[in-house]
Amino acid sequence: MSQKTWGGRFTGATDRRVEAFTESITIDRRLYRHDILAGQAHARMLAEVGLLTAGEADRIVVTLDKIGTDIEAGKMEFTIALEDIHTHIERALIADLGDLGRKLHTARSRNDQVITDVKLWVRDAIDDLDGLLHDVQVAFVGSAEREKDVILPGYTHLQRAQPVLAGHYFLAYAEKFERDRGRLADCRKRLNVLPLGAAALAGTSLPIDREFVRKQLGFDEVARNSLDVSSDRDFLVEFVFDLSMIALHLSGWAEEWVIWSTTEFNFVELPDAFCTGSSIMPHKKNPDVLELTRGKAGRVIGALQQLLVLIKGLPLAYNRDLQEDKAALFDAFDTVAGCLAVAAPLVAQTKLRRAVIAARIEDGFLDATTLMEGLIAHGAPMRTAHETVGKLVRRCEEAGCRLADLPAEAFEEAAPGAGDAVRKLLGTANAIAAFKSYGSTAPREVEKQLAWWQAKLTPST
Ligand code: ARG
Repeated sequence: MSQKTWGGRFTGATDRRVEAFTESITIDRRLYRHDILAGQAHARMLAEVGLLTAGEADRIVVTLDKIGTDIEAGKMEFTIALEDIHTHIERALIADLGDLGRKLHTARSRNDQVITDVKLWVRDAIDDLDGLLHDVQVAFVGSAEREKDVILPGYTHLQRAQPVLAGHYFLAYAEKFERDRGRLADCRKRLNVLPLGAAALAGTSLPIDREFVRKQLGFDEVARNSLDVSSDRDFLVEFVFDLSMIALHLSGWAEEWVIWSTTEFNFVELPDAFCTGSSIMPHKKNPDVLELTRGKAGRVIGALQQLLVLIKGLPLAYNRDLQEDKAALFDAFDTVAGCLAVAAPLVAQTKLRRAVIAARIEDGFLDATTLMEGLIAHGAPMRTAHETVGKLVRRCEEAGCRLADLPAEAFEEAAPGAGDAVRKLLGTANAIAAFKSYGSTAPREVEKQLAWWQAKLTPST
């Protein structure tokens, strides 16, 4: 007898090359826990509607648990002859229960089964990622607290722009990861619609109770259209986009710190535990973790591209092409989860080189914009104030000095009657103190933001 669940209509055996080509067990075996969970809910439902007896359903549930334990213990022998995880589990059930095992697939197709399993898997993956993102936020907020009094140069175009408090800087990343958590939560909401019961594509003539299964598996709704179900991979594209966004945030941060760890910048001291050396140059301490974090973003974005192209042009309903979705899904998840797991301790253990930063903080006219705002506050039209300060900066560049080094008359000329007042805005510390607006780098604002984050991230138990 054929081992295949679909062997009935075939007389010839499958070519071995075809078995190797079409198998997915090497990849989808990691769905086994979710396949068992969904199978158990399906069995209980079949008993509820009278397609199994209560006793039969109990035996199936218990045996599925045992199969799960076996797989966990490495006792299941996986073979490409059994294609995928669904077939392996069903075959193991039949091996144990005989004809009773042959009843579980009643009113179920691998088409609705696989997508139910994947949804259950992605739900768990989202919960894991939320925890990892939380830990990364805790690390950034911790650094904001530890380094909050340090003044950093803020950059646009990677040119010195305006001074910012280090607290403000670290909290910017907490914000990005908060949006990532929100996106994942949205994705979870939208995907939480039960596919099981759509069967192959058209539903079933058997009296199933999908609402019962929905409750068992914690879905919010039952999918309305069975044809849509077996082709729907929207949520995977959404999920892997969300992963790509996280990877992009991480890659920007990684690039920034690769630059900050150079001799030229020398702003951060990376922990030895998160760097590696050179096999030939004895002095090297390389930021490999950051570089790989930057590089792995390419892999995640590649997975997103792979899914988009995979789905493009597929007619309704299930097509075997869709089996290719899981390689991209798992790889994108593993990659991002791996990056987040090292990012949190790396951030927590990295210290700013305060002396180096302070020694150069007055370079680059970080206070010029605050001076311009001082002139505006004194009554100058914005464009005039801009031009005036631009000229003062040019004067400084010619003289090789800072704005604060210019003679008092230069300021009196720029702001008649208020020369001394605007001069008091010069220097990065004074510039920082002058900030006022909501969400700005003003010390009071940054304190408020920091307190908000600390209250938000502290577990409220
Ligand atoms: N391994 C398959 C997949 O991942 C399961 C669904 C197979 N369905 C089928 N009609 N051959 O897509």
